[in-house]
Amino acid sequence: MCGIVGAVANRDVVPILIDGLKRLEYRGYDSAGTAVINGAGVIHRARKPGKVKELEAEAEKIKLHGNIGIAHTRWATHGKPTQSNAHPHICRDKVAVVHNGIIENHEELREQQKKQGYEFTSETDTEVIVHQIFHHMDQGEDILEAVKSAVKELEGAYALGVISIDDRDRLITARRGSPLVLGIADHEYFIASDVAALIPVTKKFIFLEEGDIADIKTDGFTIYDMDGNRVERKIHESKLNADAVELGKYSHYMLKEIYEQPLAITETLEGRISNGKVLEAAFGPEAAGIFDKVQGVHIIACGTSYHAGMVGRYWLESIANIPCSVEVASEFRYRKPVVRKNQLIVTLSQSGETADTIAGLLEAKRLGFGSSLAICNVPESSLVRESDLVLMTRAGPEIGVASTKAFTTQLVAMMLLVLVLGRRHGMTDETERNIVTELEQLPRKIENALLLDDVIKQLSVYFADKHNALFLGRGANYPIAMEGALKLKEISYIHAEAYAAGELKHGPLALIDATIPVVAVAPNNELLEKLKSNLQEVSARGGRLFVFADTSVDVKGGEDAHILHVDSIHDSVAPIVFSIPLQLLAYHVALIKGTDIDKPRNLAKSVTVE
Ligand code: M6R
Repeated sequence: MCGIVGAVANRDVVPILIDGLKRLEYRGYDSAGTAVINGAGVIHRARKPGKVKELEAEAEKIKLHGNIGIAHTRWATHGKPTQSNAHPHICRDKVAVVHNGIIENHEELREQQKKQGYEFTSETDTEVIVHQIFHHMDQGEDILEAVKSAVKELEGAYALGVISIDDRDRLITARRGSPLVLGIADHEYFIASDVAALIPVTKKFIFLEEGDIADIKTDGFTIYDMDGNRVERKIHESKLNADAVELGKYSHYMLKEIYEQPLAITETLEGRISNGKVLEAAFGPEAAGIFDKVQGVHIIACGTSYHAGMVGRYWLESIANIPCSVEVASEFRYRKPVVRKNQLIVTLSQSGETADTIAGLLEAKRLGFGSSLAICNVPESSLVRESDLVLMTRAGPEIGVASTKAFTTQLVAMMLLVLVLGRRHGMTDETERNIVTELEQLPRKIENALLLDDVIKQLSVYFADKHNALFLGRGANYPIAMEGALKLKEISYIHAEAYAAGELKHGPLALIDATIPVVAVAPNNELLEKLKSNLQEVSARGGRLFVFADTSVDVKGGEDAHILHVDSIHDSVAPIVFSIPLQLLAYHVALIKGTDIDKPRNLAKSVTVE
């Protein structure tokens, strides 16, 4: 979604704002803007449709400089990605605002403000905020009081940065429902939608809490909670380094992140397994008591994280012998599900800020689910803070919109959960030991899967001029086929669908001809012979097969078929390894098609609105 940055310092903050926006660009990227209070005490603004580099050029051209400023990268929700809709929005040259979130009562406020004589220059929901703040300042309130009053009148979600020429050294920020961090350095302070934006300027952060408002100047800051009380918030030291969000030798973040998977998985396992067992303490001191009561699991998530949840369901039922259901969070939150006693709600999310997943969790709590566990990649994210138990995936920052290392580390984390629950439901020590051994070998197996890169690159040529593709899998590898299809469609814009291979004959087989590549994942498991029959059905109808198969598996798919072998791997962790070639395939097809791989059209990394 949108990203915001703000700064107050005794130096020109424009380079900090622009660099911060570049680091946040993965959140939204249809337009960008920044405003500062310049040396003449005037609000000076630059806005541009397109990427941050367009804004950077504009800021240089108009000589934008100032010691206090706010900036924004936009992913359009209300109004097209035009210059006039880009933030910051300004009211009567006096107040400027950047906003991430959605104001649900904006129409009502707009009507009211129009009657009061305010002129609108954009179609955004944000513009009502700046008018509302101005309105309160016009009635004698200072900028802090005006923000406090205005946010009380807003319905919906917001993270705000506000500056005004009436208080030239004061940056006000507020959050409800959208993430916001306060960065602390020596007599300079920053705000941003996430830590990664500010890493070059500080490692010290406060994660503002729901309803917090902060009043920030170069000589310090004050935070007020949602009831207006002054509060102290803990300062965190970030371990992120600037390199973690640099491209290095890679041409795209997605490729970098695909190659980071062996290390990411090592990190996810670090300190959490020992002597063939999962260490329960990894889930927190209260975990054992909570897990003892769990009789069923319900998983909610979106997109790629949902696919990880689907794999989790296969594992939880087949390995841990525990009933499990899984669904997309956007459906769950409105579905009025029946809650069974002692059911654990598990949320999966890379960002921990996905609006549907957070709302799903809150709904689950309201409905009376036993306890909650978040499997998440971003510490201190909203999801993490709202959950009883947390297992961090430790994938490191994932910048590419297409999720890769976050997915495979979610699968690893999910397996750790399966094992700690399984031992309470009849799973043997031997099973746990064997799976832990497989987990330990995963980084090496993934290194081997990455060796397929060149051959996949050659094969990708075949996909680049196609309009459709089918992905097939069975059992826990069916969600892997779904994930492969999602990767291909989101970055190459080729329509791709996944089917449980056994379902093919119930309809999709009608689509098969030489123009549709059919990709299948074929680990060596008890469903292999069934999968082979499904593949025969495809090749008998002239379909062209691309099969990723375990080395021990002999698949015949007709003379046109391409069979690529993946290092022999135990069935329990095969979905993790088979994800890799599908990620590489999507990447290389998109590369040939020349799409914007890290920032595919119409998408945002973190979907913080409904
Ligand atoms: O941050 P989350 O894991 O909650 O995000 C959920 C989805 O928006 C995300 O997985 C999305 O589907 C990815 N872009 C897919 O690659």
